[in-house]
Amino acid sequence: MSDSEDSRSSAAEKSVSDENPSAQSSAADGEHGEKHSAVVASHYNKIEDRGLLARKRSNIIFLRNFNNWIKSVVIVKYTALIKERTPLGSPFRVLDLCCGKGGDLCKWLNANVTHLICTDIAQVSLEQCESRFNSMYSSERDAQRRPKVEFFAADATLQQLRTKYRDPSMKLHLVSCQFAFHYSFESFKQADCMMKNAAECLEEGFYFIGTMPDAYEIMKRQRMAMSESFGNDIYNIKFICDTDNPPLFGAKYNFQLDEVVDCPEFLVHFPTFEKLALKHGLRLVEKRRFEDIFQEFSGPKQGLLEKMQALETYPPYHGRNNFEGQRKDPEQYAHVEDFAKKMSSEQNFRAGTLSLKEWEAASLYLFFAFQKMKTSYDAQGRPVYS
Ligand SMILES: C[S@@+](CC[C@H](N)C(=O)[O-])C[C@H]1O[C@@H](n2cnc3c(N)ncnc32)[C@H](O)[C@@H]1O
Repeated sequence: MSDSEDSRSSAAEKSVSDENPSAQSSAADGEHGEKHSAVVASHYNKIEDRGLLARKRSNIIFLRNFNNWIKSVVIVKYTALIKERTPLGSPFRVLDLCCGKGGDLCKWLNANVTHLICTDIAQVSLEQCESRFNSMYSSERDAQRRPKVEFFAADATLQQLRTKYRDPSMKLHLVSCQFAFHYSFESFKQADCMMKNAAECLEEGFYFIGTMPDAYEIMKRQRMAMSESFGNDIYNIKFICDTDNPPLFGAKYNFQLDEVVDCPEFLVHFPTFEKLALKHGLRLVEKRRFEDIFQEFSGPKQGLLEKMQALETYPPYHGRNNFEGQRKDPEQYAHVEDFAKKMSSEQNFRAGTLSLKEWEAASLYLFFAFQKMKTSYDAQGRPVYS
């Protein structure tokens, strides 16, 4: 993906501006869209909501907590930017696009959101999200802080979400699409629809944020592995498309992550993504890999790292944060041992870390943020963004 980046970027530019990228799309646009969406919906619907205890016993508990910490950090950051732009006591309206079972509900509660729209293709997940929300506001005291909410199931790659809002003219301050936009890159038509959904109700100057796999990192690892299938004990990627020349849309792979995910996903060619966003009046303001976010915020947000148990203590305190008797493979923690050797108090050394395999999975992802540009209309009534 890197060698011919320039030519692929200009192809992307042409695709996005032509609104008909047939030359670069692998499958005819939308041909398989509904089929794949159904596979994805059924996959997520089948994942049980196994409760807090089961989640704590997961093999990838620290990875899950780490990803959650990343989402918290970026949501706090963009909430602060939004609050700076709005007078005290103003409404704060959020769309949680592809909300799943409501993994971010607490974050919205902490951000004092006043109106929350949650939508996902997976009806069962959405029902779990709604009941989780209701249990968060069960007491009378909580009820006073309860935001207005809307929950509805929809395929964000095929349907216009705005028409499903109680007030389709509503202006949003934040659209958050966590670990999901890549599902739309099956075809231009689907990605375009999802981007329109993210952009069209955002108020000028406000934000669309999200997380997704970094296609460059995935392709780098595929090249290094010299195989269509690669990964480690907890994640595996298996390509189902031409890896020598992956298409801009429909570059399909199967992603397996321990017990959480096992379904088809699509590479997101970032320059194409950025141009698609521009077409809908969204200007890129930030793009960062998870490891860079960790570098920047592990100091200032260390308290939150600890509170969310986003890192594993190594060597473990038996019976405390780590499950007693759980054997640790020293190779997975060689980086901590090396670091300990450099410290003067090696004997009592303990650090917060992720196992190598969890870090390899975490470092597959990136964060992005776009800002809605000023919209005016030309003589033909088409939007012009500046
Ligand atoms: C990895 S989960 C992330 C859930 C949630 N955003 C989070 O961070 O916990 C991806 C979610 O995207 C949803 N999804 C995938 N394709 C979708 C589509 N076409 N329209 C709406 N939701 C979709 C799935 O049902 C799933 O809930």
